[in-house]
Amino acid sequence: MDARSAHDGASVAGSDTSARARLQLPASCDPPQPGAQRKQLVWIVFGGTGHMGRSLVKCALGHGDLVTTVGRLFESTPESMKQQNENCLGLLCDVRDGASVARVVERTRDYFGRIDCIVNCSGYGVIGACEDQDEHEIRNQFETNFMGTLHIIQASLPYFRQQNAGRYLIFSSTSGALGVPGLGPYCATKYAVEGLVEAMLYEVDSFNVKATLVEPGLVRRDEPDARMNPLPTWGHFLIKPASEPYAHATSPALHAKRMVQWLGDRQPTSAVKCAELVWQLGHCSYPPLRLLLGSYAIESIRDRLRSVTEELEDWKHLNFPVAPDAPGAEKDDKGDRDDRDDRDERDERDDRDDRDDDDGDSPSPSMKE
Ligand SMILES: NC(=O)c1ccc[n+]([C@@H]2O[C@H](COP(=O)([O-])OP(=O)(O)OC[C@H]3O[C@@H](n4cnc5c(N)ncnc54)[C@H](OP(=O)(O)O)[C@@H]3O)[C@@H](O)[C@H]2O)c1
Repeated sequence: MDARSAHDGASVAGSDTSARARLQLPASCDPPQPGAQRKQLVWIVFGGTGHMGRSLVKCALGHGDLVTTVGRLFESTPESMKQQNENCLGLLCDVRDGASVARVVERTRDYFGRIDCIVNCSGYGVIGACEDQDEHEIRNQFETNFMGTLHIIQASLPYFRQQNAGRYLIFSSTSGALGVPGLGPYCATKYAVEGLVEAMLYEVDSFNVKATLVEPGLVRRDEPDARMNPLPTWGHFLIKPASEPYAHATSPALHAKRMVQWLGDRQPTSAVKCAELVWQLGHCSYPPLRLLLGSYAIESIRDRLRSVTEELEDWKHLNFPVAPDAPGAEKDDKGDRDDRDDRDERDERDDRDDRDDDDGDSPSPSMKE
């Protein structure tokens, strides 16, 4: 089965039995149509040796695009990354180092002559309580996930501006939209990426540069060769041993670890189907700011947004006192005014009494005695 036929007739998180309908982005974004002519795009996929990146590289090559796939470790040789495909260039870089990212951008331009779409699938997280993670681990997650994304954008944006076209597809996570116990610093890096990209979008729109944050839920590897793949099922997470206060079986800080271990390789969302949608994102005319992938992402982010809205409604009266002309406000307002008038009248009476006392016509209390 070639990559293209593997992606046809599928739905992102649904079971294969319900999956006769073609897996496609909504018509409103003008996705590529099957069988229709489309431009051959040049992609760079950072993190192309990982769980999500490999599927995307395979998908883009299967659709006939040109791809630079980028790994970090020397075990991933440029030769092994090429996937026996002449449309693929394999490079190595460390996204924490801006200069090595810039070299990837430069070499891709030299090799393919242009760049249309840059994807950042590089990243990792440490599972452990916020209190348990040391400064080095936290900084390294920020260097990789946040600074890595910034390096990629800063190395390529001048080029995209110059050609007046370009697209970023940046892998965030559901952890970029809600706090997950046991993943605090990882969530913080993804929130930072979300803020960066959302702000940048307004700045670069006039240069015809677009960006989408991809928020996958829990993604399983399901390439045909997944079983032979030496990568761990939860490649992008390292698990830190918990300190005593966080180590008991029901500790909330162990939530992420329990989830990873409980799911094993039974994550509900397919990496192959996600890759097909992300590929369409590169080719569609009107990409969204966010693409959520899988039922877990949809449900958990929707629940989180609902709880934020409900809390906001419960507390908003502190910030919006009732206006005098609002319905129902008149009665209350009149009540307030009446109270105020009563108080003023009482004060005035007391003042008058005091003044009468001071006149000397009446004896002082002591004299009265
Ligand atoms: N899989 C999921 O369920 C899921 C869910 C939500 C979000 N995500 C996000 O999706 C992205 C991909 O996840 P994944 O599951 O594919 O992870 P993965 O299998 O661990 O792959 C991570 C990739 O990042 C690369 N990488 C790590 N550190 C790097 C560095 N300093 N410089 C350059 N490359 C580096 C790795 O290269 P090497 O292999 O050479 O080390 C690898 O290619 C991540 O940002 C992750 O947060 C994944």
